[in-house]
Amino acid sequence: MKKTTVVILFGGRSAEYEVSLQSAGSVIESIDAEKYRVVLIGITRKGEWLKYNGDVQCIQNDTWHKHPSCVPAIISPDPSAHGILVLNGRNITTIPVDVVFPILHGRNGEDGTVQGLLEIAGIPCVGCGMLSSALCMDKDVAHRLANLAGVNTPKSVVVFSSISDKELFERTACLKYPLFVKPSNSGSSIGITKVFNQNKLKDALYIAFQHDRKVLIEEAVDGFEVGCAILGNEILTIGEIDEIELSQDFFDYTEKYTLKTSKIHMPARIDSYTARRIKETAVIIYRALGCRGFARVDFFLTPENEIVFNEVNTIPGFTANSRYPNMLKGIGMTFPEIIDELIRLAMEP
Ligand SMILES: Nc1ncnc2c1ncn2[C@@H]1O[C@H](COP(=O)(O)OP(=O)(O)O)[C@@H](O)[C@H]1O
Ligand SMILES: [Mg+2]
Repeated sequence: MKKTTVVILFGGRSAEYEVSLQSAGSVIESIDAEKYRVVLIGITRKGEWLKYNGDVQCIQNDTWHKHPSCVPAIISPDPSAHGILVLNGRNITTIPVDVVFPILHGRNGEDGTVQGLLEIAGIPCVGCGMLSSALCMDKDVAHRLANLAGVNTPKSVVVFSSISDKELFERTACLKYPLFVKPSNSGSSIGITKVFNQNKLKDALYIAFQHDRKVLIEEAVDGFEVGCAILGNEILTIGEIDEIELSQDFFDYTEKYTLKTSKIHMPARIDSYTARRIKETAVIIYRALGCRGFARVDFFLTPENEIVFNEVNTIPGFTANSRYPNMLKGIGMTFPEIIDELIRLAMEP
């Protein structure tokens, strides 16, 4: 049987570069080598694309880009090439590829940019397409579309970097503290601050504006965060719901990757009726935002059992121990099976 050639893209010009290295490492270790021929392309923090042929550890410890195997390589936008161009000095060689798996988190990878390039190139791409990736990346846009689909979101105000102090205080006067100030396009809690009173609002905005010119200021929702893993194009597989138990203010970058004071419960400690409602709402969001392949849909569950949409992660954390694969393990899927299914779904017409 002819092997399917899969390009795994990792790294990326994003604040979540490091997270991508860990996710990609897990996928490379678990992908079925009998079935797939894997070609690795790393994207450095600066945005150089390098074909890499070393071991997984050098990806995980971020020394891969110094490896002698690295050669510049790009995805050809020309669909007749249907592959990557390896730029070895004056020599350009084409490697035909069947599918690309972008394991990139955040900007310049999860946000529709790479997906758009692959659409131009005519190469199947694992996960959501260009439009859906972009819609999900922008929290403000995603919230508006969720509202149109009848799903609640936190009460919020959107501001741009040109806003005056006077206007800022006027526009946020309707919001009840504490507030979350977040870049509209970001991830892993980077640039997000929880603000308890007006004195700290401008500092929080300053931080968020380092990451995006559009910032969401939203009321903190009481309760806890729950996630729903969805896998599929038309026919959907839904994982178990998980729950984040926090003992600090919020799930910040350090907490997400160390779980020092917080805990993830899988399955969530909720009744089956609430779990079903969360799954149904997640499907509404998945459809409304045009998702394909996979996504993790996150909500808050209030003490009154109200479901409030938070965000969709179109390339969720993807190590073998991450939330998304764990939720699917909850219904009996192994990590290699999830990878296999994602590639199959990408190649589905
Ligand atoms: N409106 C909110 N109410 C309560 N907690 C929030 C709210 N918005 C964000 N958080 C907290 O901040 C974390 C990161 O925010 P989120 O919007 O999920 O951004 P990211 O894309 O960085 O994960 C969440 O996991 C949650 O702990
Ligand atoms: Mg989040």
